[in-house]
Amino acid sequence: MYKQEDHNSFQFEEVNHEISQLIEHYISESKNGNTQVLKQQSPEKIAEKLEVEKHFKKGFNSVTSIKDFISKYLENTNHLRSPRYMGHQVAVPQDLSGIPDWIHGTVNNPSSLYEMGPAGATLEAFMMNWMLSKLGWFKGDNLQDFTLHKDSGSGVLTHGGSIANLTALSAARAAIAPEAWTEGSPKDLVVMGPSTAHYSIARAISIMGMGKNAFVPVPVDENEVLITSALESVYQEQLKKGKRVMAVVANACATSTGLFDNLDDVANFCEKHSLWYHVDGAHGAVALLSEKDKERVGGIERADSLIWDAHKMMRVSALCTAVLYKNYTSQVNTFQQKGSYVFHEGDVIGMDSMPFTVECTKSALGFKLYWSFALEGEKAISDFISNSFQQAKELYNYLRERSDFHCPYKPESNILCFQYQPEIFSDEQQLNLRYRLIETGDFYITSCEVQEKRYLRTVLMNPLTQKKDFIALAERIKTIATSIIKSAVK
Ligand SMILES: Cc1ncc(COP(=O)(O)O)c(C=O)c1O
Repeated sequence: MYKQEDHNSFQFEEVNHEISQLIEHYISESKNGNTQVLKQQSPEKIAEKLEVEKHFKKGFNSVTSIKDFISKYLENTNHLRSPRYMGHQVAVPQDLSGIPDWIHGTVNNPSSLYEMGPAGATLEAFMMNWMLSKLGWFKGDNLQDFTLHKDSGSGVLTHGGSIANLTALSAARAAIAPEAWTEGSPKDLVVMGPSTAHYSIARAISIMGMGKNAFVPVPVDENEVLITSALESVYQEQLKKGKRVMAVVANACATSTGLFDNLDDVANFCEKHSLWYHVDGAHGAVALLSEKDKERVGGIERADSLIWDAHKMMRVSALCTAVLYKNYTSQVNTFQQKGSYVFHEGDVIGMDSMPFTVECTKSALGFKLYWSFALEGEKAISDFISNSFQQAKELYNYLRERSDFHCPYKPESNILCFQYQPEIFSDEQQLNLRYRLIETGDFYITSCEVQEKRYLRTVLMNPLTQKKDFIALAERIKTIATSIIKSAVK
């Protein structure tokens, strides 16, 4: 028999007070750059420090032991608020970003069913209206108008861009082959897209039972931007093989280089052949919000479906992604499957997103997304995006002034790839430079291959990162490179 009084229990206020203090300290130390950005160590070591097994079996025996555990947990995390975090496409959240996660974790109201999470579902619907309005796909009177309008777009939030791509491609399939839901995928369907499309596209196609080979790569240029003039010949080749193109995918922007495909060109092509147009805007759809940068996504509003991650560039903690459709019927047709216990017909209060998502139960994702705006106001997020894009330009300008760095392109987003002395340092050595750099714990950058050449890669989205950090980064890379050369000579 389970009785609460037989087990540990803690005072709500006391524990929350202690944890708030630890988090506040964590935030200020991270922002001041007083901590290492990351600390690479084995999971065995982390498990030992956290006394994982002991707490698991016995439970925490006091508030002090909780505090001690959380303190060690925080010590063993990556410090994204450090100005020298320039790593993965994972948001640097606002200081108070954790409140919705905390509240959701406490009240546990999944928002996929309105009756189960009314406040979360309302915020999601509001944010969907707002995103649709940015694309010109919202036809309501005001953003708090939740009725469905003729010719209106629609959208749902999902747990991440990979699931979002799967959702949007399922909608594309439902449009061309509605029978696929019951009969399985017809063998003649293919999806065209940049050869460097994010791997979640190929995964989605495989998961949908079409086989990975149903992805038909369209050539990209040396910086991984789609060569739109190649679309027609690739398409004609598919027609000759007896294939039907289910969707054409464009990148906004490429995961590797952060450069944008020409969305208008792809739209023209899709319109000419009446093809479903899907924009993977997981990272770069946010350009829509920046007056200075929105020309990069000109034509995005001509897509049939779009995915847009909030946990990359909108300061929202992972995960939170929008799948948006120009026409709401696409969403309605995506999953032609009903669960009688959840999907009501007729008049019920509110709106359910469950029929339109892969997930059944879903976190209060709308709360997280809404919160990020409500904390500072809409303009702050737009300014943040323009600023992040500008930071990449500043790093580019600085590295170009130096003769020891090579930048292959001018950045269009907040992602920048570069190499250190490519005439001396091989691809393998570029990779080694990055490992040696992150081993120091002082900087977090990533690395990627662009058309089979290895690059160092930065993603700039910390408003505290300044030119002095770029200089320190470049100098540190140089120091590591010099020591590599010296040890090779010995
Ligand atoms: C272009 C693009 N699409 C999709 C994804 C997948 O998104 P998520 O990590 O949210 O699953 C990414 C992730 O980096 C991406 O860059």
